[in-house]
Amino acid sequence: MKKLKISLTGSPCMIKQLFFFIVIISSNLLFAADGTTLKPVLIDLNNKASLQRGAQIYINNCFGCHTLKYQRYVKFVDHLSLPKETIENNLIFTTDKNGEKTKIGSLMLNAVHPTSSKEAFGVMPPDLTLIARSRGPEWLYTFLISFYKDESRPYGVNNTLYPNVNMPHVLWWMEGVKQPINNEKTDFEYVINGSMSDKEYKKSITDLVNFLTYVSEPAQLDRYRIGFWVILFLLLFSFIAFLLKSEYWKDVK
Ligand code: HEC
Repeated sequence: MKKLKISLTGSPCMIKQLFFFIVIISSNLLFAADGTTLKPVLIDLNNKASLQRGAQIYINNCFGCHTLKYQRYVKFVDHLSLPKETIENNLIFTTDKNGEKTKIGSLMLNAVHPTSSKEAFGVMPPDLTLIARSRGPEWLYTFLISFYKDESRPYGVNNTLYPNVNMPHVLWWMEGVKQPINNEKTDFEYVINGSMSDKEYKKSITDLVNFLTYVSEPAQLDRYRIGFWVILFLLLFSFIAFLLKSEYWKDVK
């Protein structure tokens, strides 16, 4: 039987084109819709400590305004390796309609009233469960490090990625407040120092974005775990199938 030979080498020109194609596709992912450059962020859903820190930052600083209405607290037991008591004592601060402490099996809702929120911000702070999927982790990361001082805005801050956003810079106490030193708003100097260095703040934001990426698709963690065994099984099975095929066809020449 004639053997079929598959060649994996293409002409150098083709390989070059393929290379450029891949580079262009991947670099496109780092631009926002309006062409602003987004900063890369390292997402690691297996880093439980980072997810736990992200959850803490979220509950303490964002949850007062932004719900996570498709997420239940109890999921943190498996996914974030947090004991039930830790969640109840450190992450649940809300009460239900009867004034009793929210149960661990509940959805992550807050008490923001749409009317009062409209009065305060002009808009309702959006639910953030799916934000990492709709905006992307790079967008979120860039957004959260792009607040700068702007006295013409109601909260005294603006955002280079999301101009005139109606959200205060709630993490200013961590980052500090910076103001642009050139017209293009590419260079900044701090006018108020925060509790963290630039590096520490960016690390905290990475944890926060890591957490929001997990929340946007909790099944990812299960998928990776199961996916590993599925691929391993497929590889093993291909090998067995190959042996079987060789056995059946060995006399047919
Ligand atoms: C005081 C209330 C408040 C707090 C606290 C707050 N936000 Fe916001 N946030 C808002 C409002 C209001 C908007 C809507 C702004 C707009 O549409 O102009 C918003 C918008 C956003 C958006 C943009 C959503 C979109 O796609 O349009 C993101 C992302 C976001 N917030 C993340 C966060 C994170 C992360 C935290 C915690 C560090 C946080 N917010 C804390 C009020 C708040």
